[in-house]
Amino acid sequence: MSVAVIDSGLGGVAVLRELLAIAPGANVDYLADHAGHPYGNRSPADIAARMARLADAALGLGASGIIVACNTATAVAVDALRSRLPGVPIVGIEPPVKPAAALTRTGVIGVLATAPTASSSRVARLVESHAEGVRVLVTGCPGLADAVEAGAIEAPATTALVRRYVGPLLAAGADVLAIGCTHYAFLADTIATIAGADVAIVDGSAAVARRAATVVPGLAEGAGRLRWYSSDVRAADGLARAWGEPVSVRPVAW
Ligand code: DGL
Repeated sequence: MSVAVIDSGLGGVAVLRELLAIAPGANVDYLADHAGHPYGNRSPADIAARMARLADAALGLGASGIIVACNTATAVAVDALRSRLPGVPIVGIEPPVKPAAALTRTGVIGVLATAPTASSSRVARLVESHAEGVRVLVTGCPGLADAVEAGAIEAPATTALVRRYVGPLLAAGADVLAIGCTHYAFLADTIATIAGADVAIVDGSAAVARRAATVVPGLAEGAGRLRWYSSDVRAADGLARAWGEPVSVRPVAW
């Protein structure tokens, strides 16, 4: 059996790493929708349609479970995906509002996400049910996922962009920042440097990997086979960068 990890691009590699750390035997197909990246610039309906196609491609490869390693796709499309594919275990990722709210001492937390995630009703509900008494500042961060996908993690322009989004959160008293986009996990060091030692950074990748290991039957029992796919292989260089070694990326058949 195998599990599919899907994202608009390289962001899901952060989840993949955590998954293989706890289930090294997992057979994984990583599917990236580079032809549709960034999802942050797309409408919810468009993202849902692309996710449906990507999930079908994953099932065509033999996946018996799907990890939607993309906060944006989870926020706007995971419900539709679950109704479309009843019986397929589907695990999504959401901004880690609950652990962030549990950590704050100032009573203010920041959430960094794409614009569609930030304005989604799913995240509004998350805040309502898991952050009582805490002021939650959810910030859409246009441009950040593109910078990560382009390999510009250490570029001064990227640092300036992070500063622009994080600065107001710090000024408002946030002492915890939740990473609400899997691409931003690759900017954790930049965010931490800008935020300073008194601000905690919370990422949900490990929790999602743990959940996947419990809900996808037989996930840990494979031979550790890893395959890479993209809807635009010409734009898939970031996968090797994120993974840390060369990878051979095949086109998604859809
Ligand atoms: N990695 C995605 C997320 O977690 C989306 C980035 C994008 O395509 O804008 O939200």
